[in-house]
Amino acid sequence: MQWRRRHCCPIKMTWNVKRSLFRTHVVGLLSLALLFTIFLFFSHQDWLSSRPGFRENPVAYTMRGLRPLKERAEGNQSSLRSLLREPIYFPPKPPVNFSSHQAEAAAAQGMVGLEISLSANNTNTNSLHREMGVGGQLAAQPYRYVLNEPYKCRDSSPFLILLIAAEPRQVEARNAIRQTWGNESVAMGLGFVRIFLLGMGSSSDGYPQAAIEEESFQHHDIIQQAYMDTYYNLTIKTLMGMNWVAEYCPHAWYVMKTDSDMFVNTEYLIQKLLKPDLPPRHNYFTGYLMRGYAPNRNKDSKWYMPPELYSSERYPIFCSGTGYVFSGDMAAKIYQASLSIRRLHLEDVYVGICLAKLRVDPVPPPNEFLFNHWRVSYSSCKYSHLITSHQFQPSELIKYWNHLQSNKHNACINMTKEKSSRLRHRKLHWERIR
Ligand SMILES: *[C@@H]1O[C@H](CO)[C@@H](O)[C@H](O)[C@H]1NC(C)=O
Ligand SMILES: *[C@@H]1O[C@H](CO)[C@@H](O)[C@H](O)[C@H]1NC(C)=O
Ligand SMILES: *[C@@H]1O[C@H](CO)[C@@H](O)[C@H](O)[C@H]1NC(C)=O
Ligand SMILES: *[C@@H]1O[C@H](CO)[C@@H](O)[C@H](O)[C@H]1NC(C)=O
Ligand SMILES: *[C@@H]1O[C@H](CO)[C@@H](O)[C@H](O)[C@H]1NC(C)=O
Ligand SMILES: *[C@@H]1O[C@H](CO)[C@@H](O)[C@H](O)[C@H]1NC(C)=O
Repeated sequence: MQWRRRHCCPIKMTWNVKRSLFRTHVVGLLSLALLFTIFLFFSHQDWLSSRPGFRENPVAYTMRGLRPLKERAEGNQSSLRSLLREPIYFPPKPPVNFSSHQAEAAAAQGMVGLEISLSANNTNTNSLHREMGVGGQLAAQPYRYVLNEPYKCRDSSPFLILLIAAEPRQVEARNAIRQTWGNESVAMGLGFVRIFLLGMGSSSDGYPQAAIEEESFQHHDIIQQAYMDTYYNLTIKTLMGMNWVAEYCPHAWYVMKTDSDMFVNTEYLIQKLLKPDLPPRHNYFTGYLMRGYAPNRNKDSKWYMPPELYSSERYPIFCSGTGYVFSGDMAAKIYQASLSIRRLHLEDVYVGICLAKLRVDPVPPPNEFLFNHWRVSYSSCKYSHLITSHQFQPSELIKYWNHLQSNKHNACINMTKEKSSRLRHRKLHWERIR
């Protein structure tokens, strides 16, 4: 995978290249399509005979996991499914003015719903309790805002909100983002709001809270709540952002959640993916799709997921947390759904579970090169046709952003030189996957 990504990312191809590629590989594509049809047919058979097919076939699992027929046949094997199966608490439609007071009320309601279903003594009581027990409790104690920006959307609803997870001490990264992809000027007059999401720094990391307050006073783009800013609290951070949008900016057209070490081509995101000329989408969620992933059970891993917390063998489809984009209506829906789902520390997986509960399927982006959760080697041509790339130092961000800006209108001028080498790589790639 890495090899392919690094060496074979022809983002913009001339029509000649496209045509010749098409001719050369049309037969291969047709046979792939045939194979896929056969595969679909057989996996369907698999489902009909109610054998647990998801182990070999994560796609089938994510698509069919929601069907009651199969679930009943499988007993309590998958607690994710039992989590989704129980219609114990369908959140009410989010109110127009969604306040944390209402959130608390909703959480209390969720807990009542949980108790009712637990007393009903069905076969799934145990796994339900495991997956959902903590959710209501955590949500009932929302963290207090230390810094807030309640009036960002008072006068008009923005086209795009950027929610950027940052650690308190990362002031350089915030400044780099303000100068580059987070600068209002990228939106060219469309409403644009940039919000950094912060928890509380520990006194040991040496960055004073007073400096953050000063920065907030100057830029008015920081929200901060009173939880410890740690990797394991990222889910809390994301939910803080979702709740902020739901409460203070509910009519925003689109929201992107991303991180402070990302390169984001905001202009491409706005013009080519979201397209301000189209009417706003609803129930829309996209990003780099992670499909059929299994929980990491290696205790030494950063992504370790204890079976006690999440016992299913697969995660639902989720979008990499390095950058995902959704319609404004989803913020309140996801926050509401989260009130009855136990908090897991992997925020992107967690949002995926919320989406599964809401039965909203993330849609794949128009092409697979747009969202990258690794670092794409820089060329102005590639970077003018992607949305995210990962692992940027603040100084690199500024350097590459400026290069991209000054070469915007001839970004692919050097591509003719690279074309032949790219073609060679692409041929190799096709031979590998055959
Ligand atoms: C149900 O789940 C529990 C806990 O995961 C497990 O101990 C038990 O064996 C399961 N029962 C069946 C029938 O799969
Ligand atoms: C929402 O809040 C605004 C301002 O606080 C208020 O004017 C409006 O009546 C509220 N709407 C509802 C439905 O509560
Ligand atoms: C519920 O389950 C418990 C233990 O599994 C059992 O003791 C109790 O009688 C059951 N209650 C009902 C109403 O079925
Ligand atoms: C944002 O961009 C504008 C126009 O390019 C520029 O004048 C301004 O200084 C930038 N803001 C920051 C914080 O760099
Ligand atoms: C998350 O924040 C809470 C509230 O500050 C804190 O008690 C908890 O230890 C933090 N969790 C982790 C894993 O850092
Ligand atoms: C094209 O290549 C030249 C030299 O290799 C380099 O200086 C220039 O910045 C490149 N232009 C773009 C748009 O990448």
